[in-house]
Amino acid sequence: MASAPPLLELRDLSASYGHVQALKPTSLTVAEGELVTILGPNGAGKSTLLRAVTRLTPGTGQILFQGRDVSRLATHRLSELGIIMVQEGRGLFSQMTVRENLILGGYNAGGDRVLLEARLQQVFDLFPRLKERVDQLSSSMSGGEQQMLAIGRALMAGPKLLMLDEPSLGLAPRVAAEIIATLGELNCSGLGILLVEQKAPLALRLAKRVYVLSLGRVAVELPANEIGSHHDLARYYLH
Ligand SMILES: Nc1ncnc2c1ncn2[C@@H]1O[C@H](COP(=O)(O)OP(=O)(O)O)[C@@H](O)[C@H]1O
Ligand SMILES: [Mg+2]
Repeated sequence: MASAPPLLELRDLSASYGHVQALKPTSLTVAEGELVTILGPNGAGKSTLLRAVTRLTPGTGQILFQGRDVSRLATHRLSELGIIMVQEGRGLFSQMTVRENLILGGYNAGGDRVLLEARLQQVFDLFPRLKERVDQLSSSMSGGEQQMLAIGRALMAGPKLLMLDEPSLGLAPRVAAEIIATLGELNCSGLGILLVEQKAPLALRLAKRVYVLSLGRVAVELPANEIGSHHDLARYYLH
């Protein structure tokens, strides 16, 4: 029997801003149910990679999703297929409540109330704090709660692949750990996750594989449990 195609496969995906190629031709895969971490310093091209996958930034090269070439699809079509991104800075609607933000995330449920209710319940089970604050404006919540809301909103879209751009940025270590642990739970229940972080001792415990981006290209690809034996990488990324 032929093995299943990867959930996501990038073949020589690149992206430029004007004359600057911020993402050099990059190839990577995320298998079904896998959690893959992309590490790299500020300016390495991590956000550009995620934005090129979701076509928020135009790119060249091939994007395959479950074996299907989706390179030419628009952002909203990709989201209907289940490719959902939590952007850096979260992109919440600050003057809307927690509930309103969540419901907007579920726009692709096509107004199916039963489905929306089931997804809301799933989000509240994962993040009870969102349930407690369901009628608060998102702007009134702490950074950690806002990140939970951003992830909750992404889950409302029913993702098959969840991509997150530095979800722990600016959060206290304890809160970041809580959020990363929740990503681990989601991954354990079968969700494919592509997690971008600058430094990620916690994320590395969950990830099977790691790509290190540097100057717009993949400098290293290795199993997450081997990063400790690469002294230069360990020094930078594990502390
Ligand atoms: N909108 C933009 N216009 C021009 N250059 C950009 C833009 N966004 C990012 N860049 C540049 O592209 C490179 C990669 O940026 P980015 O993907 O944001 O890196 P990272 O997310 O790893 O910090 C950087 O040199 C950055 O200055
Ligand atoms: Mg970035």
